[in-house]
Amino acid sequence: MNTLTVTILASVVFAGFYVYFSRRTSDPYGTFHVPFNKVPGGPDPPQTEWLNMGFWKDTVVFPEACQALAIQLFRVADLKPGGRVLDVGHGCGDSILLQLSHPEVATPSILCGITSLPAHHRRSWERVKSYLSSVDAPPAVLLFQGDAVWRPECQDHPLSPDFQHDFDNILALDCAYHFNTREEFLRQSLRRLTPGGSVALADLCFSSSPGPVLTLLLWRVLRTMPKHNITTKEQYIQQMREIGYEDVELEDITPFVFPGFRQFLKQRGRMGSIFSWSMSWLEGRGLRFVIVKGTRPNTRPL
Ligand SMILES: C[S@@+](CC[C@H](N)C(=O)[O-])C[C@H]1O[C@@H](n2cnc3c(N)ncnc32)[C@H](O)[C@@H]1O
Repeated sequence: MNTLTVTILASVVFAGFYVYFSRRTSDPYGTFHVPFNKVPGGPDPPQTEWLNMGFWKDTVVFPEACQALAIQLFRVADLKPGGRVLDVGHGCGDSILLQLSHPEVATPSILCGITSLPAHHRRSWERVKSYLSSVDAPPAVLLFQGDAVWRPECQDHPLSPDFQHDFDNILALDCAYHFNTREEFLRQSLRRLTPGGSVALADLCFSSSPGPVLTLLLWRVLRTMPKHNITTKEQYIQQMREIGYEDVELEDITPFVFPGFRQFLKQRGRMGSIFSWSMSWLEGRGLRFVIVKGTRPNTRPL
């Protein structure tokens, strides 16, 4: 098969995949992921509700891989006990709960979150409140429902210029490629970081420029990424430096993410196999899973 045929075939598969999910819910993220968290012999319903691509280096179990990816992000972010943290795109709240309860993760003093889907926001609050009611002297937790990017008409937003707290860390676990746009999110984040504070993202980018057909597919057909977010690793780093971040670092962890996630998907019926094949196709066209970090300069005013 020549490249054009493969591309057309792939577009049809992707479009089918998109239609399948968008018919079930107006957002590809609903609650379909909850059963993914079920482990053989474990509780039913499962106690975690993770929804990321996972870090599969030492596990083949979905919730363990998701937690491991969160831990990788926290490691790069270098979270400190008592820090003020904003967790963006936290879905059903597992990364929030992990920061509140995991013995090896630094517990913040103030933990804010914002995620776009009302159902995820409600579920996060439910789970977080239940956890907080069981501990003495819990940290302050503030969860918001809304878009990662602050708009002037939105009064109550953690990235609004009037928000009551600045942050030592801003985290985006497997979600920033959706933001409209990632660049605007990074600009707003820089203004809300304390001097020396950092933003850390587990995110998608490309090893080389993906070209117009693939860009259209991701942007218009799948609607997973605004066109502006489709960047190479070098462009990502360059953009962060231009925004004003220093010590920008990008770690390519693709070998520990995509193969394990594809293997997991293959075991989840026909749709999982199609999604797995699509991921492999995209990987062949340069898709990479990266962890990126940038620090707000200590000295230079913004
Ligand atoms: C792949 S899931 C990751 C969820 C969570 N971080 C985790 O690891 O389980 C992406 C999440 O980002 C949220 N999201 C997508 N676009 C967003 C946006 N523009 N603003 C805020 N959240 C967004 C989705 O609703 C979803 O909950």
